[in-house]
Amino acid sequence: MQRSVALVTGASSGFGLLTVVELAKAGYHVIATMRDSRKQGALLTLAAKQQVSEQIEVWSLDVTNRTEIIEVSAKLTETYQRLDLLIHNAGISIGGFNEEISEQDWRRSMETNFFGVVFLTQALLPLMRQQQSGKIINVSSVGGRIAFPGYGPYSASKFALEGFSESLRLELSLYGIDVILVEPGAYQTDIWAKGFTHIEDTSSTHSSYQQPMKQVLSVGKRLTKHAGQPMDVAKKIVNIAAKRKPRLRYAMGRGSTLAVMAKGLLPWRWLEALIKWQLRKK
Ligand SMILES: NC(=O)c1ccc[n+]([C@@H]2O[C@H](COP(=O)([O-])OP(=O)(O)OC[C@H]3O[C@@H](n4cnc5c(N)ncnc54)[C@H](OP(=O)(O)O)[C@@H]3O)[C@@H](O)[C@H]2O)c1
Repeated sequence: MQRSVALVTGASSGFGLLTVVELAKAGYHVIATMRDSRKQGALLTLAAKQQVSEQIEVWSLDVTNRTEIIEVSAKLTETYQRLDLLIHNAGISIGGFNEEISEQDWRRSMETNFFGVVFLTQALLPLMRQQQSGKIINVSSVGGRIAFPGYGPYSASKFALEGFSESLRLELSLYGIDVILVEPGAYQTDIWAKGFTHIEDTSSTHSSYQQPMKQVLSVGKRLTKHAGQPMDVAKKIVNIAAKRKPRLRYAMGRGSTLAVMAKGLLPWRWLEALIKWQLRKK
């Protein structure tokens, strides 16, 4: 019997890398895509250790590159004629204060975290609709439900992803395809360090936001110290993929379920006061 086929974006590190291996362990044949295939070493080492190398293929895909998206879609259709699970995981975290973030950084954030998902989905949907089954799991964030200062582009891109996913889920339910959002809080992957470095590099001594930026960075660093293990997210994704009737949203991680609940229940003023209090805390 043919194995179920899964495709994961951003598989060179973090959640993506671990999810590929966990899916292979669960019996999937996995297309692990990454924008720089020279970074496949860590994935291949773990796959070999877990004895699932034969179930994993590494393909090049920069999700901001429309030509590569079309090539991947054509190759997948030609090789496997099916796609059972599509995991949009690739993402970047661009921080800084909204006024001072460059146009290039705003666009890069939307191109990667939002348009990458939209256009890859469009390219692969004909295949999934034809088979009348499958799941699309979009890795969003608690930052896609609540926006924090210092992370405008990140939250804007994940809020957009949330809206897109709500709409897509309603459209695709007619074709037996489930759309699901995974919304992690803080987990120990490289994304934070990359984001912090970016903030530190771009908040020059001329910035008008030096003091609030220091507060944002210190909260971020405090959060990452107590952040969860990325393997929990990878395992959760595999668990969701096996569900017959998955929900739209799965918030997970320290404090994020609570934060999302608080947003639904508390008056907006109270929520703002809570966030501001967090920022002032030493
Ligand atoms: N870690 C957390 O606390 C957390 C919390 C909430 C949500 N998330 C979300 O989880 C997802 C995975 O992030 P992570 O935490 O695992 O961080 P990560 O280790 O930095 O992984 C991000 C992955 O996305 C890839 N990527 C970036 N731009 C890309 C592009 N244009 N095309 C293809 N791949 C690209 C990166 O590739 P390179 O190696 O080439 O950069 C990397 O493989 C992201 O969507 C992120 O927003 C993470």
